[in-house]
Amino acid sequence: MSKQEEIQKGYVPEHVAIIMDGNGRWAKERGLERFMGHQEGVNSVKAIVEAAAAVNVKYVTFYAFSTENWNRPKAEVDALMGLLVKTIKSEILSLNNNNVRLLAIGNIAELPVSVQEELHEATVETAHNDGLSVVIALSYSSRWEFRNAVERIIKDAKLGLISEEHISDELISQYMSTKGIPDPELLIRTSGEYRISNFLLWQIAYSELYFTKKYWPDFRKDEFYDAIIDFQQRERRFGKTSEQI
Ligand code: IPE
Ligand code: IPE
Ligand code: MG
Repeated sequence: MSKQEEIQKGYVPEHVAIIMDGNGRWAKERGLERFMGHQEGVNSVKAIVEAAAAVNVKYVTFYAFSTENWNRPKAEVDALMGLLVKTIKSEILSLNNNNVRLLAIGNIAELPVSVQEELHEATVETAHNDGLSVVIALSYSSRWEFRNAVERIIKDAKLGLISEEHISDELISQYMSTKGIPDPELLIRTSGEYRISNFLLWQIAYSELYFTKKYWPDFRKDEFYDAIIDFQQRERRFGKTSEQI
């Protein structure tokens, strides 16, 4: 039985979030520029989008650029932004052919105008697709997202739209940039780092975590399916006892 068939016999997570890490080390090990790692990483993104759609995952979120990544050397930031524009432009047709919807989360207004324009076009042009949703996190960090949510909650309270008694987990979720997207059931991080790096802190409260030593450019369909198979073997207790499940 193929891994794909094995996965489809069990419960498939609705939302998988991925911290794509290790592009630089992948390149360095090969004596290449870091940028080559990012470029090869794009091929992993394409492979995972295909693999996710094939087993009916509904949402995949890719952490592509964090708030903290603005502190990288300007040349690398510029190269990443250029790669983003080029990739989004060249993928719109294929996203549409595969019924994939593109969404973006993060402080989009902080991105170069060229990236904002390309993102806008791709999100509008794929908005009608109801297959897999690909969420790309750009200039994103959880603490930015919390800060932004608190600011907007206070504004709405001042306008009289909400008050103290309305505050609930659900309401807070509505003010997150992931509004309308179910929480990830599985969070994957590549490259052997065991940290969250300011990613989806509110949303991963009960996610299953999966860490792999593989660098992102080496993380493809087979590795993605291994992560889902591992997820399927876990018992998610949500505070209850095993007997209650
Ligand atoms: C992940 O790979 C890509 C981004 C954060 C944009 P890195 O560029 O962090 O690669 P390493 O961690 O230096 O190997
Ligand atoms: C996390 O990778 C951010 C993204 C994958 C976009 P980093 O390589 O920036 O993470 P740290 O700084 O090593 O934790
Ligand atoms: Mg890294």
